[in-house]
Amino acid sequence: MYSEISAREGKIFHMSLSIAREHLTDVLVVGAGGAGLRAGIEIAEHGVGVLVVSKELLGAAHTCMAEGGLNVALTEVNPLNSPEIHLQDTLAGGAYLNRLSLARAVTYEAPDRVHDLERFGAIFDRAADGQITQRFSGKQTQPHTVFVGDYTGQAIMAALVDQARRLRVAVWTEHFVTTLFKTDGQIAGALVLDQHSGELTLVRARSVILCTGGGGRMYSVTTNAASNTADGYALALRLGVELVDMEMIQFHPTGMIIPRAMRGKLVTEGVRGEGGRLFNRGGERFMTRYNPDRLELAGRDEVARAIFMEVQEGRGTENGGVYLSVAHLPAEIIESRLPTMLEQFLSAGVDIRKQPMEIHPSMHHMMGGVRIDEWGACNLPGLFAAGEVTGGDHGGNRLGGNALASCQVMGKRAAISAAKFAAERLTAPQINPADVTSELIRLEHYLESPAETPIPPDVTHEALQKLMWEKVGIKRRASELVEALQGLDTLITQLQMGARAIDPSPAFNRRWVECLELGNMLTAATVVVYAALLREDSRGAHFRRDFPDPVSAWERRNIALRLDESGKITHQIVDQSSL
Ligand code: FUM
Repeated sequence: MYSEISAREGKIFHMSLSIAREHLTDVLVVGAGGAGLRAGIEIAEHGVGVLVVSKELLGAAHTCMAEGGLNVALTEVNPLNSPEIHLQDTLAGGAYLNRLSLARAVTYEAPDRVHDLERFGAIFDRAADGQITQRFSGKQTQPHTVFVGDYTGQAIMAALVDQARRLRVAVWTEHFVTTLFKTDGQIAGALVLDQHSGELTLVRARSVILCTGGGGRMYSVTTNAASNTADGYALALRLGVELVDMEMIQFHPTGMIIPRAMRGKLVTEGVRGEGGRLFNRGGERFMTRYNPDRLELAGRDEVARAIFMEVQEGRGTENGGVYLSVAHLPAEIIESRLPTMLEQFLSAGVDIRKQPMEIHPSMHHMMGGVRIDEWGACNLPGLFAAGEVTGGDHGGNRLGGNALASCQVMGKRAAISAAKFAAERLTAPQINPADVTSELIRLEHYLESPAETPIPPDVTHEALQKLMWEKVGIKRRASELVEALQGLDTLITQLQMGARAIDPSPAFNRRWVECLELGNMLTAATVVVYAALLREDSRGAHFRRDFPDPVSAWERRNIALRLDESGKITHQIVDQSSL
């Protein structure tokens, strides 16, 4: 159906790639993490056709790596708590950059979604009286966090997978969405690569939900899984979809430093929630200087910057970190509440029941993303989004535990919207053949031999990670951000001119997919830096050394940006008070 012969640069060339088959679905969900599976379950419960596509094995999404817990105001457990308190904590944590309607939806509906999770089989830890236990995480005025030991994400994912299986939700695993299509101003479908066979399926969908997670892998030190390659941001940008708050990158205060192979690995906030204390090399509990009231449970941005300063000012460890200790806690608490941490550090030769952990901040979460309303809708009709790929609910700085809540609430809400949109769309969407051909040309490009020596994608990837870590980190300044933009331009050229899969076969070609993921990360990184340069202000997770104090002109103002038809970034400043 689609021509395999196309014109490029004035030449006619033969394309080896073609469309193996077509598939029509009501709703396509891209991503099978906490948000994607929750969406799939909801759509199936509505009796609407759904296809979930995941580049991972089922159950292996990054949500599994969420350890500390999920935030929810359970008034039956704690009558002093309420969704309104959870909302106010979320807004204060987000430096009041949150989209209020979104933050309200997440905090007010989290209790119902936690009850859903228990119905699906995720049983949260309980006290002797049978009530769910709740603990404090950073910047909470009431303990909002429910948990399953320190492996909450795994427990939630197992329950979601079970429920999706019970409902026979169709899931294509190890399939990669290379691009999304729109026709006549509405979403139309996607091109999906089977990473095993190398076959391409054109999926026509009445509506699509993006649940692709974040892009932590653009940084060299990150808590993120290898799959977090910013795919959703790039898919959205290429469709002209607006993103918001992209400068807001969360650095988790506590990631491992040593051994090198474990660098960046998450040391859950649950450690501090259980009473963990931070010390510098001199044995000083330094948070008493930075935030004497909240100490280790200050906001993540604040604690991460405090650790950064301790190290910068020479009070760090030899490996460039600080110490986090739970050695003062009873061993039974550590064994029952922090078993993953105990095992993780034992494997590194540290017994946290007796010895401190050596830690340093690690890139953790992107607060920014697709600019959605409280029903998951964006500026492209038929496209919805949920989870980390979206922006707005967390504002400038996410409270630990709010991501899992958001995935459940917004996964369900986006599903309701997408199912409704699909039901009301009377004619099946058509995909423009010319759009398919240009995507095939783009894909084919990375399989060809370049004129010069090919550059394996991991070489360019490593350069990207180093650039982002060094120039777009916890503390930024204009000159470094400009250098980052220049560096990204060079890497984009390197990707286009030199990066290749080397093996020309599309089957089992991991390097080919890496080229595509790298393209996605470079696109997303460029808008991160663009927004970080534009925001001459320090607020939430964004700290500018050249504007170290909050600038009132930026109060409750967000940067929304998109790519125009020519691929140029355009932006608008959104005033929260007008929403
Ligand atoms: O520290 C943690 O366990 C991470 C939780 C989160 O980011 O929500």
